[in-house]
Amino acid sequence: MALRTWAEEFAGGTVATGMARLNARHPWSHNDHFHSWILANLPARRRGALDVGCGRGELVASLSPRFEAVRGNDRDEEMRRHATARCAGVANVTVDGRPWAEVTGPVDLVTMVAVLHHLDVAAALADVRRLLEPGGRFLAVGLAPPHSASDHLWDLASAVTNPVIGYVKHPWPSTDGTPVTPVPIKDPTMPFDELRETVRDVLPGASVRRRLGFRHTIEWTKPS
Ligand SMILES: C[S@@+](CC[C@H](N)C(=O)[O-])C[C@H]1O[C@@H](n2cnc3c(N)ncnc32)[C@H](O)[C@@H]1O
Repeated sequence: MALRTWAEEFAGGTVATGMARLNARHPWSHNDHFHSWILANLPARRRGALDVGCGRGELVASLSPRFEAVRGNDRDEEMRRHATARCAGVANVTVDGRPWAEVTGPVDLVTMVAVLHHLDVAAALADVRRLLEPGGRFLAVGLAPPHSASDHLWDLASAVTNPVIGYVKHPWPSTDGTPVTPVPIKDPTMPFDELRETVRDVLPGASVRRRLGFRHTIEWTKPS
């Protein structure tokens, strides 16, 4: 039985329910959490950046002061509306819904946060390679279903540290009842080991690392 399922059913589900309540009182965005990692690993040359699957545009807004031009791409119309509103008045930002395979480059940075599992992974990575300038970077944050023993252990570590990180980021219980438009989600299907192999096949030399928060990161610099 997967550790995640076992943990959910342990003690008749009481522990899982308690953890879920705790997480709701001290919430944190597992995706936005990695924006600081992205901002700390930007390429040296910063003319153009592309955030694929930009959602509500938070990362696009953070990248805008650091690049000459930033483009958010999302196939969901409502997400594009939010991202456009989020970046209203920021002159160097554009948001579009052009099909991903038709996006033209070159750019110095491609980012994907919780997006790669929505796409055909190998084809999307080949597009990243095509779009990047030599010296340009691909920085992605992803999700994978637990499959191997290591996956389950990382899952457990993420579950245990989740409320701790929530306490640190959000020490006082959340009272904010403002509804937030949910981003379109999809369950990941490609296990971490297979993903890492695919990434290394298409983007040789890429660094693929497991992270807490039920996430992994991918970092690749296109050779000059
Ligand atoms: C889980 S959300 C993540 C959104 C955002 N990156 C974030 O971190 O909040 C996945 C996003 O990818 C977008 N998406 C899915 N497939 C796409 C595609 N083929 N081209 C562009 N965007 C896509 C969805 O519309 C959604 O906004």
